[in-house]
Amino acid sequence: MNMVQQFDPAQVDFSQDLGTPGARSDVMVNVFIDGMGVSVPEGTSVMRAAAMVGANIPKLCATDNLEAFGSCRLCLVEIEGRPGTPASCTTPCQEGMSVHTQTARLDKLRKGVMELYISDHPLDCLTCPANGDCELQDMAGAVGLRTVRYGMEGENHLQKGKDESNPYFTFDASKCIVCSRCVRACSEVQGTFALTIAGRGFGSEVSPSEQQPFLESECVSCGACVQACPTATLQEKSVIDLGVPSRKVKTTCAYCGVGCSFVAELRGDEVVRMVPDKQGGANAGHSCVKGRFAWGYAQHQDRVTTPLIRDSIQDEWRAVDWDEAITFAADRLKAIKRTHGVDAIGGITSSRCTNEEVYVVQKMVRAAFGSNNVDTCARVCHSPTGYGLKQTFGTSAGTQDFASVEQADAIMVIGANPTDAHPVFASRMKRRLRAGADLIVVDPRSIDLVRSPHIQAEHYLQLLPGTNVAVLNAISHVVATEGLIDEAFVAERCNKTSFKAWLDFISLPENSPEALAGTTGVEAETLRAAARAYASADNGAIYYGLGVTEHSQGSTMVMAMATGNIGRLGVGVNPLRGQNNVQGSCDMGSFPHEFVGYRHVSDDTVRDQFSSVWGVTLREDPGMRIPNMLDSAVAGEFKGIYIQGEDIAQSDPNTHHVAEALRAMECVIVQDLFLNETSHFAHVFLPGTSFLEKDGTFTNAERRINRVRPVMTSRTGLSEWEATCALSEAMGYPMPYQSAGEIMDEIAQLTPTFAGVSFDLLDKLGSVQWPCNEQAPSGTPIMHKDQFVRGEGQFITTPYVPTDERSTRKFPLLLTTGRILSQYNVGAQTRRTNNVVWHAEDVLDIHEADAEARGVKDGDWIEIASRAGQTRMRARISDDIPAGVVYTTFHHPVSGTNVITTDNSDWATNCPEYKVTAVEIRPSTEQRA
Ligand code: SF4
Ligand code: SF4
Ligand code: SF4
Ligand code: FES
Repeated sequence: MNMVQQFDPAQVDFSQDLGTPGARSDVMVNVFIDGMGVSVPEGTSVMRAAAMVGANIPKLCATDNLEAFGSCRLCLVEIEGRPGTPASCTTPCQEGMSVHTQTARLDKLRKGVMELYISDHPLDCLTCPANGDCELQDMAGAVGLRTVRYGMEGENHLQKGKDESNPYFTFDASKCIVCSRCVRACSEVQGTFALTIAGRGFGSEVSPSEQQPFLESECVSCGACVQACPTATLQEKSVIDLGVPSRKVKTTCAYCGVGCSFVAELRGDEVVRMVPDKQGGANAGHSCVKGRFAWGYAQHQDRVTTPLIRDSIQDEWRAVDWDEAITFAADRLKAIKRTHGVDAIGGITSSRCTNEEVYVVQKMVRAAFGSNNVDTCARVCHSPTGYGLKQTFGTSAGTQDFASVEQADAIMVIGANPTDAHPVFASRMKRRLRAGADLIVVDPRSIDLVRSPHIQAEHYLQLLPGTNVAVLNAISHVVATEGLIDEAFVAERCNKTSFKAWLDFISLPENSPEALAGTTGVEAETLRAAARAYASADNGAIYYGLGVTEHSQGSTMVMAMATGNIGRLGVGVNPLRGQNNVQGSCDMGSFPHEFVGYRHVSDDTVRDQFSSVWGVTLREDPGMRIPNMLDSAVAGEFKGIYIQGEDIAQSDPNTHHVAEALRAMECVIVQDLFLNETSHFAHVFLPGTSFLEKDGTFTNAERRINRVRPVMTSRTGLSEWEATCALSEAMGYPMPYQSAGEIMDEIAQLTPTFAGVSFDLLDKLGSVQWPCNEQAPSGTPIMHKDQFVRGEGQFITTPYVPTDERSTRKFPLLLTTGRILSQYNVGAQTRRTNNVVWHAEDVLDIHEADAEARGVKDGDWIEIASRAGQTRMRARISDDIPAGVVYTTFHHPVSGTNVITTDNSDWATNCPEYKVTAVEIRPSTEQRA
């Protein structure tokens, strides 16, 4: 054996491109690369094994997030005992194999291949935007190419045109080497299948959809192809404009609850591009259009960067320095406290802010304001998740990590639209679906997943809005009455009494699919088939979104999903959280009845612990929720509010009521990036920082705590937590933290599930999923493994109670709402980016039959009226929704969608019933609300 040295696997640099994906095998094989011994999992390519030991083999068509393709023939190697020069990317390692990566023969062959590529490539390296960041250039250097024997006179592709239609990247066909990496990235990683190689041989070319410009094709601008491209063919426009970046900072996307990790690449203080981090725990190197490209709002001219104050909301704003603004705000709040008592003021935390920023706001309310009047914007989205999962399992959070979906055999998606709202997770889920998992979709709208390239839901339950609980009860009825319950699991893990009560309830004939078909609109046989598929799969996993929680029975619905599919890979109950830090804002004690870590304020032991660390006596009675604060304001009792990063005048239901409440207050403090709708009612505006300026942590939907690092200097001079601490001090309660890391240390000190978390640990591990403590020092990807956190799993009977919001003769249609891929919530950020090219206004989707009955044509302006209010927007005829249902988004303030949503809410948590509003539509002659 010719081994000279054994390679230490701990030395592998996984941040570099190892050429092909890693193999999943417990069997190891030993190979020798240029004499260096290395042990790799069976199935590992020769290219990857070589890269692991630092012997980087030249390559063009291979990259380690795509399956090997073997087309460029640059990665040839010699293997002892084998004839020829096989491609190392497609050759798996075998026990005892001895590989040579650098020989005179290989040099010659590789030079020949490169010569052919370069002879059909523009020789404009010095002026090319990718100069210094181009794999073709690197490979020419790596193979030692010095001259090209063939001229450019022959047939070539150098005159091919450039497609600049996409707002964020260009496609310069003259530079394309037809390596197919982009096509494979779009299929394998993103799952959109927007690209193909059209034509044959010399005429082969990359084609978006039917040879359309990128903007008009099926492309969703995720950027995976741009990242995969080894040349400047697919290139970010920002790189073309600003030049190749010179420094990097790792941070986390501030849009949705997937929590993708990014490497921000900069020149000086200017972001050139955001590159998804392939070591990111949540995204493994993938991204969507928002995180990848829509970060320009941070530099938008609308940003307010100095504090503003005014005596009354009729006055003009006055720009002041931080000291004056803080003193003004504190004096007003103290005056209200003196005159109306401590219960007259409170605060709202933001799911867009960091854990540390949220923590200090709830601490200020409890310790400086003197009440528990703190709530969070999660009230209007996932509060039923917190409540429901705590009741059944004992923890207010999802049970799995995202990677778990790769082991699921049946996936049930309820009231969620992952391809639009959680796109990077959707790509992972679609990979599993393409590999054969069954898909069950429960949604009034035929979302993308129901039928998209290479995916079709085996079971689509198109229920009527507001009947989720009835559908889940019917599914459970089938499971219970057809002998599909996992009896052993129930006997071992669950409370027997509650199970017996639940079984008696769910077996009642009134819960059968046949009895409920009229209510739900789902045929009994369709539902029975879906129930059987889910219950009989080895691993059944549920993923759900706001279509579950934003109902009058949101909490009931979450509890109805309790299932024996818990505690291992491939299963679980998984809320797809909306905003980047909605999990974190809930974890951080933002609810009026709970301290950090979901511990009730009335628990003496817990309260004493917080009182002692905070050095102040704390109230044991829960404070007011957002709707209570607003009602109390309208009643003239609640007078002052601190609103951190939330636009309640646009995002909360029944806008008229919210406006009336805000108008009635004496001190409204808004802390945000832009003057939003709520700031029309504010007396103090404290400028917030974008995620590019923040230092702290976000917690994603899988309980993963990710670091957010300051990429650029703060444009406001003070971070949010510093502003909050300054206000608290001016109110008489100093919070003298020196850094965000110090705030996290206090969170860890006071929270058993965070006890092991620190910035140092996060820097070391990259991210960590709570609980992270002595029992789980590296975090907990899968929860409830051996037993439920609450001890025995609790079954809860979930009778279906129809919402009061029903269609009537006056309001015969049911409106449901959602969001789309390119925009984010109220659009404050995405509307200030080029993403508006995909969605410049909210439109109302209406079924053809309903439109025809009302004389409405595609594109017409229509008026939508509910019992809460009315607004106008354009109509779009769509067969994604059934007759009787209409659908819209709420991304643009001008369409005022929440003017028409009602103040109905979940019985347990007051989460608003955004998903069901009875409305009527009529053609409109006017064009705006
Ligand atoms: S566009 Fe880039 S990735 Fe796609 S085939 Fe051409 S060179 Fe390869
Ligand atoms: S940006 Fe994404 S969706 Fe569009 S072509 Fe590239 S990989 Fe496909
Ligand atoms: S999936 Fe979510 S977290 Fe990831 S890049 Fe897109 S918006 Fe950001
Ligand atoms: S990298 Fe192996 S054939 Fe292209």
